[in-house]
Amino acid sequence: MSENRQILVTSALPYANGSIHIGHLVEYIQTDIWVRFQKMRGNQCTYVCASDAHGSAIMLRAEKEGVTPEQLIDNVRREHTTDFADFLVEFDNFHSTHSEENRELSESIYLALRNAGHIADRAVTQYYDPDKGMFLADRFIKGTCPKCGAADQYGDNCEKCGATYSPTELKDPRSAISGAVPVLKESQHFFFKLPNFDATLKQWTRGGALQDAVANKIAEWLDAGLQEWDISRDAPYFGFEIPGEPGKYFYVWVDAPIGYMASFKNLCARRPELDFDAYWKKDSSAELYHFIGKDIVNFHALFWPAMLEGAGYRKPTALNVHGFLTVDGQKMSKSRGTFIKARTYLDHLNPEYLRYYYASKLGRGVDDLDLNLEDFVQKVNSDLVGKVVNIASRCAGFIHKGNGGVLVAENAAPELTAAFTAAAPGIAEAYENRDFARAMREIMALADRANAWIAEQAPWALNKQEGKQAEVQAICATGINLFRQLVIFLKPVLPKLAEAAEAFLNVAPLTWAQHQDQLANHSLNAFSPLMTRIESAKIDAMVEASKEDLASGAPAAAPTGNGELTKEPVAAEINFDAFAAVDLRIALIEKCEFVEGADKLLRLSLDIGDEKRNVFSGIKSAYPDPSKLEGRLTLYVANLAPRKMKFGVSEGMVLAAGPGGEEIYLLSPDSGAKPGQRVK
Ligand code: 2FM
Ligand code: ZN
Repeated sequence: MSENRQILVTSALPYANGSIHIGHLVEYIQTDIWVRFQKMRGNQCTYVCASDAHGSAIMLRAEKEGVTPEQLIDNVRREHTTDFADFLVEFDNFHSTHSEENRELSESIYLALRNAGHIADRAVTQYYDPDKGMFLADRFIKGTCPKCGAADQYGDNCEKCGATYSPTELKDPRSAISGAVPVLKESQHFFFKLPNFDATLKQWTRGGALQDAVANKIAEWLDAGLQEWDISRDAPYFGFEIPGEPGKYFYVWVDAPIGYMASFKNLCARRPELDFDAYWKKDSSAELYHFIGKDIVNFHALFWPAMLEGAGYRKPTALNVHGFLTVDGQKMSKSRGTFIKARTYLDHLNPEYLRYYYASKLGRGVDDLDLNLEDFVQKVNSDLVGKVVNIASRCAGFIHKGNGGVLVAENAAPELTAAFTAAAPGIAEAYENRDFARAMREIMALADRANAWIAEQAPWALNKQEGKQAEVQAICATGINLFRQLVIFLKPVLPKLAEAAEAFLNVAPLTWAQHQDQLANHSLNAFSPLMTRIESAKIDAMVEASKEDLASGAPAAAPTGNGELTKEPVAAEINFDAFAAVDLRIALIEKCEFVEGADKLLRLSLDIGDEKRNVFSGIKSAYPDPSKLEGRLTLYVANLAPRKMKFGVSEGMVLAAGPGGEEIYLLSPDSGAKPGQRVK
C-alpha cells in the first residue's frame, strides 16, 4: 500500500445547541483513531469538522436564552472543542457552517445547480404560526394522532402507535412554539431536482462507496423513485439567504455538508501544502471519507453526492456509517444515569479507557455498539493495565536497578519479536478497514504472548541467582522492545499512553514503520505507571452525577444519542392527602449562579416569603446564562427533605417541565403572585 495518499476525513458536524455525550463520541473517537492511524503511516490525512450552526432550532434556542444565534453558537463551539480536545479527538480544523467560506461555497454550489437546470420552484402550503409569524417545521407542530387519538404528538409521527402522517392530518394542531392554532399558508419554495441524478446515484451507491447494509437500504429508496428535495425555508430563519431570493434561506441540511468543504477551505488558507481544488475537483485522486451515523445516511448518500456532481465537484470515496450507542443494552436514559455527557465522563474517568473500549467493539458494520459498564471496567483493567502496561512495569525495574537504565542489545526471544513484526500488516489492514475490534484482538493476543513468555523466563527468580544478570537484562530488554511494538500498534487508540511511553522509552514520537526497529544500547527514562485501573466507584459516581438532573428537578424524559425520546414510567396515582401534603409555594429567584465542577446544576437562592432557601437544580442545559433567571418567580416544593449533594445541601425543589436538554421550562405563576404564597 502506498504511504503518500491524500486523504480528507470528516465526522458529522455537531449541532451548535447541545452538549456532546458518549453517544456522539462513538463517531468522533472512531474517526480520530482512523485519522491517527493514517497519519502514523505517513499519509497526508486531514480531519475537519465544524459546528452545524443553522436552522430554526438554533434560532429559537438563542431567542429563549436572550442571546444572538452567533453568541449561542460561539459558546457551544467552545464547549464542544474543549470536550473533543479532552477526549484526544484531534481535528486539523474545527470551523463553523456560519462562516464566510461556507456562505460563498453554498451560494456558488446553488448557482451552479440552478444554471445547470437542477433547481425548480413552486408554491407549497404549510402550517404557519400566526402569533410567532413563522412557518412551522413538523416537529414544531403538536396535536392529536389521527390514527389512535393519542394527545400531544408531533406533526409527522405518533410515538404512541407509530403512525406517520402529514401535519395537516393531525387533529387539534397547535404550534409547539407559541401554542397558537396554526393556519395554512402558501409560499414559494425551491427544490433540488434529485431525480436528475438517478443514474449517477445508482452507479455511485453500487460502486463500493457504501457498506453492504447501507447500499441495500439506499437501493430500496432508489427503486422506490427519487423525489425533488425542498431546499428553501422562509424567514425568519437562521442561515444563508438564497442568492436573488430575498426572504428565502437555504435549509440547514443544504449548507451543513458544504460545511465540510468550508472547513477544509478555511484550513487551506493557513496550510500551504493543502490545495483545495486538488482535493475537490471532479477527477481528484485524493480520497474523501465521511464518518456518519446511520440516521443521516439519506443526506450523505443521496443529496450530497448529487449536489457535488451537479455543481462539478468530486463525490466522496466512501461513507463510513456506524450504529447507535446503547448502555447496558438499553437506550441511554437520564433516569438510569446512562445519558452521560462528555464532560461528566471526563470529571470521573480517563478518556483513553473509553477510546479503547469503543475500539475493542467497533467493526466495519452498522450494528449498534453496547457500552456494558461492567465489561468496560473488566476489559480496560485486564487488557490495558493487566496486559500492556504490565509488560513494561515488570521489566523496567530490573533495567534501572541492574543496568543503570540502559537496554542491552541482546534479544532473548527473536522468534517472538519476529511474530510481533509479522503481525503488523494484519493489524494495519484491520485499522485501514475500520475493523478496530479485530486490531485490538490481535494486539491483545500479542500482549498475552509477551506476558506468558516473561512469566516463563521469570526474571525476578533469575535475578536472585548468581551469574544470571546478563540473562535478566536480555529478557527485560526484550520485554521492553515488545512493549514498544505494542505501543506503536495501540498509538492510534491511546495517544496519551503512547506519549507517556515515548517519554519513558526516551524516543521521538513513534511512527508505524518503526515497529520493525529494536532499541539497543539505549537509555530509558524513569518508569512511572502509564495507566491506572478503573475503580468501579468512579463508574458509580459518574452514573450518579448523570442522574443529577432528575434528582434535582429536571424533567423526566430526555433525548437519547439517537435523538429519540426515552419514555419514563407514568407516576402512580396518589390520593388527595398525599397531594395536600406537598408544601408548594411561590418562590422568588434572588440569585442564580453556576456551580463550580457541576455539569448540569445551577445554584438558586430563593426568597420563599418567610425565609431564604438554597436549591441546586439540574436546569443548566436550558439556562446557560443563569443571571437571566434572577428576579423571576417560580413554583417551589418547600417541604421536600433536604438532600445532601456533592456541592452542598439542596433544600427543596423548583418545578420545571419539558423533555430535557435545552428544552426545560421553569414554571412561573401569573403576574401578581408574591413570594411565599401557597399553591392550592
Ligand atoms: O445530525 C446531525 O447531528 C447533523 N448536525 C449532522 C450534520 S453532518 C453534515 F452534513 F453537516
Ligand atoms: Zn397514534
